[in-house]
Amino acid sequence: MSKKIVITGGAGFIGSHVVRLFVNKYPDYKIINLDALTYAGNLENLKDIEDLPNYVFEKADIVDASRVNEIFQKYQPEGVIHLAAESHVDRSILSPLDFVYTNVIGTVNLLNAAKEAWKNDFEGKRFYHVSTDEVYGALGAEGLFTEETPYSPNSPYSASKAASDHFVRAYGETYHLPFVLSNCSNNYGPNHFPEKLIPLFINNIINKKPLPVYGDGKYTRDWLYVIDHAAAIDLIFHKGRNAETYNIGGFNEWQNIDLVRLLINKMDEKLGNLPGTSDNLITYVKDRPGHDLRYAIDATKINKELGWYPSVTFEEGLKLTIDWYFDNQEWLKNVTTGAYQEYYGKQYGGR
Ligand code: NAD
Ligand code: DAU
Repeated sequence: MSKKIVITGGAGFIGSHVVRLFVNKYPDYKIINLDALTYAGNLENLKDIEDLPNYVFEKADIVDASRVNEIFQKYQPEGVIHLAAESHVDRSILSPLDFVYTNVIGTVNLLNAAKEAWKNDFEGKRFYHVSTDEVYGALGAEGLFTEETPYSPNSPYSASKAASDHFVRAYGETYHLPFVLSNCSNNYGPNHFPEKLIPLFINNIINKKPLPVYGDGKYTRDWLYVIDHAAAIDLIFHKGRNAETYNIGGFNEWQNIDLVRLLINKMDEKLGNLPGTSDNLITYVKDRPGHDLRYAIDATKINKELGWYPSVTFEEGLKLTIDWYFDNQEWLKNVTTGAYQEYYGKQYGGR
């Protein structure tokens, strides 16, 4: 079956893995990568597939409704997989409105474009909205987020993602727009922008720079290798039930400080250092305001309904990730100059 699918945010971290998977796995599909190429978007992420005949790139800002409509008119896609977003919690604290524009208004623009393009025939159409577990707020020491957990976002980022989730549902209820939604835990892997914990700390260990651990470092996240998220997105897009939400998680909870120690261990080994050499880089810094204590996902539904389970262990995933950053130091250098340094100064001061 041939299909045209618009994937938004395809030049970003997760989006680039989803684009690669779809372009390689479905040669009969046409994959349209719609991305504004913000600081987080990078076409280098897609060098290996950019010349394939079933891939096309459209530089566009989802906040620009007429540009989005133009792309829908041009390609007449049957599906949308929407990943474009401002995605970093710390930046949302510095600049919340950017998150409202892209995550809320941008999502509504896409919904309107899909509704308009599909209005006469919803058969075979699907709007897939990729969201986050952060919409559920924070867990205490016990419990897991299920699909029924009430929304309780605490950061401007998660509030903007929660708002976009609500709009997607509302378009389903009000206009019968066919949709599916997923809420995933923390991803890690190749091409992850080095503002997030794992790639930031890999880069800082390479450069012998302080590792800024927020608060007491006892915050907990549930880590999933990005390739497993892309595989879940493929399954949900093709086999998920209409108007349903699927939680996706790694069954892999780590307190930040334990994860940082594990990472230091692996990095020292890779660098040929004596064990513990980089321990002294750990620097406890001021906590993130509104810092959510713990996220953890109950991924039973996607496991039972669609047979999905993470395929990459944390041990394997971390090794693949570290190896990738070592083999791609040019990529790392290119994304950590200019605007990155400015952001780093604002976020971490002189450290
Ligand atoms: P990212 O920041 O790496 O990439 C975002 C991409 O969106 C970039 O290519 C950027 O250029 C593009 N973009 C941003 N604003 C845009 C705009 N106005 N118009 C068009 N394109 C725009 O993000 P990511 O970590 O790959 O996350 C992708 C999606 O998955 C997001 O919706 C995020 O909320 C969600 N998510 C991420 C994680 C995670 O751990 N990274 C976990 C769960 C869900
Ligand atoms: O849970 C899914 C979410 O995971 C996604 O929706 C977000 O897009 C993604 O950025 C991620 O959010 P987090 O805030 O959990 O990820 P981050 O890598 O920024 O931080 C992970 C943990 O590490 C968190 O407890 C904060 C802490 N941290 C982070 C940074 C950048 C530090 O201690 N120091 C740091 O410098």
